[in-house]
Amino acid sequence: MRTQDYIILGIESSCDDTGVAVVKGSKVLSNLVASQKVHSRFGGVVPELASRAHQSNLIPTITLAVEDAGISLSEIDAIAYTNGPGLSGSLLVGASFAKSFAWSLDLPTIPVHHMRAHILAHFLVGDSGEENHPEFPFLCLTVSGGHTQIVRVDSPSEMEVIGSTLDDAAGEAFDKVAKLIGLPYPGGPLIDKYSKLGNPNRFIFSHSNVDHLNYSFSGFKTQVLRFLQQTITSDPNFFSKENNQNLFDFCASVQSTIISMLMSKLELAVSESGITEIAIAGGVSANSGLRNALELKSESDDWNVFIPPLKYCTDNAAMVAVVGVFDFSEKRFGSLKDVPSPRLPDLSNPVK
Ligand code: KG4
Ligand code: ZN
Repeated sequence: MRTQDYIILGIESSCDDTGVAVVKGSKVLSNLVASQKVHSRFGGVVPELASRAHQSNLIPTITLAVEDAGISLSEIDAIAYTNGPGLSGSLLVGASFAKSFAWSLDLPTIPVHHMRAHILAHFLVGDSGEENHPEFPFLCLTVSGGHTQIVRVDSPSEMEVIGSTLDDAAGEAFDKVAKLIGLPYPGGPLIDKYSKLGNPNRFIFSHSNVDHLNYSFSGFKTQVLRFLQQTITSDPNFFSKENNQNLFDFCASVQSTIISMLMSKLELAVSESGITEIAIAGGVSANSGLRNALELKSESDDWNVFIPPLKYCTDNAAMVAVVGVFDFSEKRFGSLKDVPSPRLPDLSNPVK
């Protein structure tokens, strides 16, 4: 990436994490996330609770992030914030704060597309201090709680979605299956944890049959629901506390089916485009099985694979701030009239 030393404060509030970060060029000076535990007992994010929690978290998180970064407010060049897609109340809190804060400091604002931020998180310099990012053009599998897409990335501002889910996102599939078996939200990390102890071949679930590079997970979810109804009817103690092996095998089988669906379309995209620079982004890229599957491909098929550090996979503000660095260098600023949008157009056009 360009090495300008712009100092950007980033704010992420698209869902249930209040993130604030300060970056200098691609170097992360501070990156804080105030997670909202309040949702776990409801089995999913409660939008109204999320926006209230953002309201109380934002000022203390900004204060700490600026302090951690060791800078003064007068050194900040711009404020970048997520302006969609996401939950409308959550976005509104972050965007309103970002714009007022920028106005009070006489700074430009940079509205950022959340999925573009997940992708460009690869351009943050990790703890090793070394740059390790894909070269353009690359393909990015963006997998989160709200998105599952294969994106062709030609530059920081030119991206084309070449495949996408027609219904649920991969993260949603993990979370909904977890909810069916009584695990708290978000269920993805727990399914991942239990999978490590289970046999992925014990239960067989079929792939959804969708056109070309697109995905579908709603049929898979129904298939799992039917499996659970039948299994628990014939064996009410299937998920007994005394024997966790069924739980572990079930999670491993679910996870391996989701991963193999994700990988098969990615393989097709690679063979059609001829691009072998491959990145993953979004919360589900924290999944250990998906990371392993990609690493295997880099050994067997010459893919040049880029997997972000865990802290930059799930929602965070460093990824928002680094988009700010790219846009600042091209003078792509927002205005105080910008309104965040829960359903921003996809990444293909426009990029913000
Ligand atoms: O990107 P993200 O933090 O928020 C959105 O923009 O949606 O992604 C959250 C999603 C949730 O569905 C969560 O269950 C999933 O990422 N997730 C995982 C793992 N860690 C987070 N899914 C599977 N395995 C994981 N280790
Ligand atoms: Zn996200």
